[in-house]
Amino acid sequence: MLVLAIETSCDETAAAVVRDGREVLSNVISSQVQVHAEYGGVVPEIASRKHLEAISVVVTEALDNAGVSLADIEGIAVTRGPGLPGALIVGVSTAKALAFARQIPIVGLHHIEGHIFARFLEQPVEFPFIALVVSGGHSHLYRVDGFGRYTTIGQTIDDAAGEAFDKVGKLLGIPYPGGAEIDRLAGKGNSKAVKLPRPLLNDGTCNFSFSGLKTAVLNYLQKNPITGDDSLHDLCASFQAAVCDVLSAKTSAAIRAGGIKRLVLAGGVACNSGLRKAMADLAAREGVDLHIPKPLLCTDNAAMLAVAGDYYLSQGTISGLTFDSQPSWRLGVPPEGEA
Ligand code: KG4
Ligand code: ZN
Repeated sequence: MLVLAIETSCDETAAAVVRDGREVLSNVISSQVQVHAEYGGVVPEIASRKHLEAISVVVTEALDNAGVSLADIEGIAVTRGPGLPGALIVGVSTAKALAFARQIPIVGLHHIEGHIFARFLEQPVEFPFIALVVSGGHSHLYRVDGFGRYTTIGQTIDDAAGEAFDKVGKLLGIPYPGGAEIDRLAGKGNSKAVKLPRPLLNDGTCNFSFSGLKTAVLNYLQKNPITGDDSLHDLCASFQAAVCDVLSAKTSAAIRAGGIKRLVLAGGVACNSGLRKAMADLAAREGVDLHIPKPLLCTDNAAMLAVAGDYYLSQGTISGLTFDSQPSWRLGVPPEGEA
């Protein structure tokens, strides 16, 4: 099936054409990040306006790059939630209009469902597997038994991992979003130089907490202002190590508790070199089959939605044309107002 996928949940306007949930013919991403960087974070109203400006161009480019026309598209997958309300509406309305005009089926998906299956575009993973989803809005451990079959094993009780990276970036004067730059600077530093807490490390759950870690960095900075490159590099390396230690310990616990030897890493923070290394070490230690998508498929994109999208559309599980966006949707829970 030839699927057009559309993603507008945050600050990337994205569209992709994917064949059979596997072969990526195009994957166009128009990022608004430079506009929001001026404000130190995503401004929802600006995000909606920028999506509106970009969506037609991005969809047209996705079709052109794939060498297909709208008449060739057999189904549409779109992010229904969670995300910024105004931003989601742009993608959902566009997707519905195209489905109506072409009289083809459409399915509205959970954004995290997209992230979880991004790896399938490179290589399918056998069920069940454990998925660690770490992004700007999520830090979750799931057991995945199939499409639509997700059990939450652990989650953040405050900030998401990516949010912590971006907030620490802000404290260090790094433009939004700071995650990738902290990763780069951390590569030059000593991860043992600054003693930082590992929140909830031994609490016996698979939950995370990153807000206290961010405050610990703030307290450290108040007493030890950055004096040069070395101190900046060391603090970045120490912070990144603290995040990775916790993520890796909790993931180990989830793997052991479930007796599942397959692990999928997903979401923007899965680009982090320290985390990729920590997960590779974990996999070697525990005999786990590790799957991490290439960085372009970890951060927000539309192609990732076409995996579950193709599955549901092929099964005939479609959303009709009256579904709405779900800004606060929780994975595995029916959308608001639906049984
Ligand atoms: O999945 P994503 O593109 O969007 C959301 O669904 O949130 O993730 C974006 C997040 C941002 O917080 C960004 O700073 C973080 O992923 N990120 C990284 C790296 N690359 C992106 N964090 C740490 N290290 C990186 N290399
Ligand atoms: Zn995302």
